[in-house]
Formats: sequence, structure tokens, C-alpha cells
Amino acid sequence: MTTLTKTEGEKAPTGPDSFLSVRDLRVRFSTEDGIVKAVDGLSFDVERGKTLGIVGESGSGKSVTNLTVLGLHNPKSTTVEGEILLEGRDLVTAPEKELEKLRGNKVAMIFQDPLTALSPYYTVGRQIAEPYMKHTGASKKEARARAIEMLTKVGIPQPESRVDDYPHQFSGGMRQRAMIAMALVCDPDLLIADEPTTALDVTVQAQILDLLKDLQQEFGTGIIFITHDLGVISDMADDLLVMYSGRAVERGSVREVLRQPKHPYTWGLLSSMPRLGADVSQALNPIPGSPPSLLNPPSGCPFHPRCAFTGEVPGDRCSTERPSLGEGRAAACHLTAEQKQSIFIDTIQPRLR
Ligand SMILES: Nc1ncnc2c1ncn2[C@@H]1O[C@H](COP(=O)(O)OP(=O)(O)O)[C@@H](O)[C@H]1O
Ligand SMILES: [Mg+2]
Repeated sequence: MTTLTKTEGEKAPTGPDSFLSVRDLRVRFSTEDGIVKAVDGLSFDVERGKTLGIVGESGSGKSVTNLTVLGLHNPKSTTVEGEILLEGRDLVTAPEKELEKLRGNKVAMIFQDPLTALSPYYTVGRQIAEPYMKHTGASKKEARARAIEMLTKVGIPQPESRVDDYPHQFSGGMRQRAMIAMALVCDPDLLIADEPTTALDVTVQAQILDLLKDLQQEFGTGIIFITHDLGVISDMADDLLVMYSGRAVERGSVREVLRQPKHPYTWGLLSSMPRLGADVSQALNPIPGSPPSLLNPPSGCPFHPRCAFTGEVPGDRCSTERPSLGEGRAAACHLTAEQKQSIFIDTIQPRLR
């Protein structure tokens, strides 16, 4: 196991509460075009009962990371290295049988599209009851009662009759609730929510987010919340990880990262976000350039080809030397701490107002 040094005055990154601890995770896919480095040296922690937000442009490795945590990658074409410690047990080396026992029980997942999780051929009630029977040994009758209880919890009206409906008889928002009921039926310690509200309208989205917060309070679930919506993240997360090109470029509490971001990529993300209450047609400042190829990632800092501040760093460090992300509150960037602060205050912050 990797030993972590505790910096004085800084919170230790892995305390007794660190339920999930991912260390130097690398996930590679062999494809016809070559090796895709989808996750490239990623480390993070999730505390029990807390929410870790993961943000980043599409293709930055958010979903692959979390599917790997669940062991849902194709073992044939995928190489996984590093550690995924769940209560100290390494899931990277755990046998598939053990992962199967964990999934839906200790660790569960909800997706953007509930139809990837719900089968059209079985009633909603049966799909909630089945994992409950499998993991707890409950009888059919008990499991049906539990399904009705869960449908009530997630706010489905007339749960006693709705339990016998098929997914197509539910609206989109109700299907999302049913999927949450299915994910939480065994009271998991960790819930992975991968863009769970992206497809929903704003009102339903707000209801689902409130529901997740309530359920987290009730069950003490640790949540990994993946989104590209910084507004949603500021509402949901305790800690935040900003991903770029399969790596973490910035980490900290959600307040710290959103109020005093230290990485040029995070500055770009914040600048490209519409202001609250602003006219959405107002021109935003999207980050120039496009996300890097993961087949042939840039040398040095993966963000350097799109970064406006490489000129501030002496020599060609940005294009030759990979910046590391320290522990705790950190940004993987060669700018000095003073430069990060003064550029943010002088150049970035005025644009965010
Ligand atoms: N099975 C796979 N084979 C090859 N490449 C993949 C596979 N799954 C994902 N990728 C690639 O890995 C990268 C990260 O994908 P993903 O984690 O889905 O991004 P995100 O969720 O951040 O949008 C993308 O470039 C994607 O094309
Ligand atoms: Mg994704």
C-alpha cells in the first residue's frame, strides 16, 4: 500500500473515515488504433457519508474511473493498475465473485439514462426486490414490501399499485427515482451517480438532487457525484476533483475550488459557465482548443497546448515535465503558488462577476 505523508497543518487525506481510497489508478484500453490511456495516475478519497464531486469535460475519464471502481470493465481489452481500496480491501485484485457481492450491496450506481439499469421486461417492483432478496436473503413477500417502502421513499405516488408497473409506464423523472430506489434498496455505503440528472428538466432535477441529499442523510451513504454542471456540484458536493485527460488537475473542498481555483483548466471551466440569472444567449468564454487525444496525450502537462499561462513558467517545463498533484488541497500546475493567486485575482475573478 502507498504510504502517504501528512503535511503539517493539513488534513490527512486518508483518515479512519476514508471509505474509498483510490491510488495511482491507471486504466488503458487496447484498440485498433492503439492504447487509449483513459485514466492515467488518478488518486482520490471518498469519506463515509460525504459527497465527492468529479467534474471535467466529456472524455476526461470520469465514467471509466467509476465503472472501474465497480469492476465493470472488460477484462480482456482493459488493463487496470493501481489500487482501489474499499475499507482497505483492494478491488483491483479482488476476484469477480467478490465484486459481484459488493455491487448493488455495498456499492451501487445510478446513471444518466435509467433504461440502461432498468429492464423493460420486468416490473419496477421486481427489479427493486431482486437485489434485496439476493443480498439479504429476504423472502419474496418481504422484498415486495421493501420495494413499496423504497418507492415511497423516492416519492412515487401510489407505490402499492405502481410497484407492479413496467418501466415504460413511468415518466422519465419517475424512472430516475425508481433507479435510485433500486440502487439504494440494500443501503449501500457508496453510491456512484454518473450525471444522474443531466437528461431531466430543471424542476425534476432539483427534486432528484434533494432526494439524494435526504437519502444520504438517512443512510449515511458516501456519494461520488459526476457531472459537468458546476452549479449542481456546488449544491451537492463536499469535496471536488477536477479531471482533465484522465488525471486529476485540482482537488479541494468544493468551496475552496470554486471560490479560489488554482488551475488554469478550472479557471477555464468556471469562465465558460453561464452566470446565475444571466441571459443564456450571452457569449461565454469557452476554453479554446479541444480536449487532448488519449491515444497520444500531450507531453508534460496535458493542458499545456490550451493553456494561456505557459509563458509565465520559465523554460519549457509545461511541455516537458508532468506537474504532480500533491495531497490535500492542490493543483497540478507549474505556476508558483503566488502566480496562481495573483493571476486568479487580477485576470480571472473579474471575468466571473
Ligand atoms: N471500452 C473502451 N474502449 C476504448 N476507449 C474507451 C472505452 N471506454 C471509454 N473509452 C475512452 O476513454 C475516454 C474516457 O471516457 P469516459 O470516462 O467515458 O469520459 P467521461 O465520462 O469523462 O466523458 C474517452 O476518450 C473514451 O472514448
Ligand atoms: Mg461519462
